[in-house]
Amino acid sequence: MSKKHNFSAGPCILPQEVFQKSAEAILDFNGIGLSLLEISHRSKDFVAVMDEARAIVKRLMNLGDDYEVLYLGGGASLQFVMVPFNLMKAENGKAAYLDTGVWAAGAIKEAKKFGTVDVVGSSKEENYSFVPKDYTVGSEYDYFHCTSNNTIYGTQMKSFPKVDTLMVCDMSSDIFSRQLDFSQFDLIYAGAQKNMGPAGVTLVVVKKDILGKTGRDIPFILNYQSHIDKESMYNTPPVFPVYASLLTLQHLENNGGIAAAEVRNEAKAKLLYEEIDRNPLFETFCVKEDRSLMNVSFRLLDESKKEEFDNAWKAAGISGLNGHRSLGGYRASLYNALPIESVQVLVEVMKNLN
Ligand SMILES: Cc1ncc(COP(=O)(O)O)c(C=O)c1O
Repeated sequence: MSKKHNFSAGPCILPQEVFQKSAEAILDFNGIGLSLLEISHRSKDFVAVMDEARAIVKRLMNLGDDYEVLYLGGGASLQFVMVPFNLMKAENGKAAYLDTGVWAAGAIKEAKKFGTVDVVGSSKEENYSFVPKDYTVGSEYDYFHCTSNNTIYGTQMKSFPKVDTLMVCDMSSDIFSRQLDFSQFDLIYAGAQKNMGPAGVTLVVVKKDILGKTGRDIPFILNYQSHIDKESMYNTPPVFPVYASLLTLQHLENNGGIAAAEVRNEAKAKLLYEEIDRNPLFETFCVKEDRSLMNVSFRLLDESKKEEFDNAWKAAGISGLNGHRSLGGYRASLYNALPIESVQVLVEVMKNLN
């Protein structure tokens, strides 16, 4: 069967080379006569994987030794809990959150169990069709939490506010897709399963000196410091997702790093948005200025053409184009590994619908 054009929102397309090398490592890792899946995480071969997986993130993000890189289980959803546990003061704890979608709202819901949460901006009433910009965050807050890219609605923060407190960002769906000054963040987290690897591991990048200041008795497993002290081996790490993430990041580094990925991502998004704007049959769910480079959520304006459109994209070898169940419509996820040729195929199908 020929390879599909995979627009899935995650888990999603990864570089073909990553699939190939991952498959080889499962059969015989580094030529040691053992599978990656049957060796100890304390073996020198896996410790080398973890060390390099941590180091490459700092290189790609241009961050220094004041930051630590962790690979944790539990998905990005566990970070909705770990962030307030580790950063919100035990007494009179207070955090500011930006509500830009279902995932941001999920983070807010968990944080409320730890203290006061002020939602400083929300687009919920407008079905999350834009990113609020008109707010300030003062030093009365223990931290500010935002979501850089809203996977479901197809909106993305184009810039980040200057805040008078710690800056925490859920980058699950646009990590490593564009150049940013990563040092403006005190804590970044991202489920790997979009731009950086398979499902099963979450990246956390944390500035060391922000920890240990809440007065909370944090369970060891939920304490970032435990994981830092053990170099991300506090408990058995998800070895396969960590290895496949390393391969994905090495592929990125060998192909021009984040700067080159951003150029490719901009070209793909431009191609698709131009067709949506030109074609009277389609429109995006969100305002133009907040359109995401990663997830293009759009709808078909003439429902009578739905069957024809669905049959046409499926016949063209396209997969994963249905929108999130909460929004409907379509969503084309243009993650780093998606080639522009796949977008060209989709645009051709859209052009031919009339
Ligand atoms: C922005 C964002 N945050 C959090 C999550 C939840 O991630 P996980 O399923 O790894 O818990 C997702 C999942 O798609 C997401 O897109």
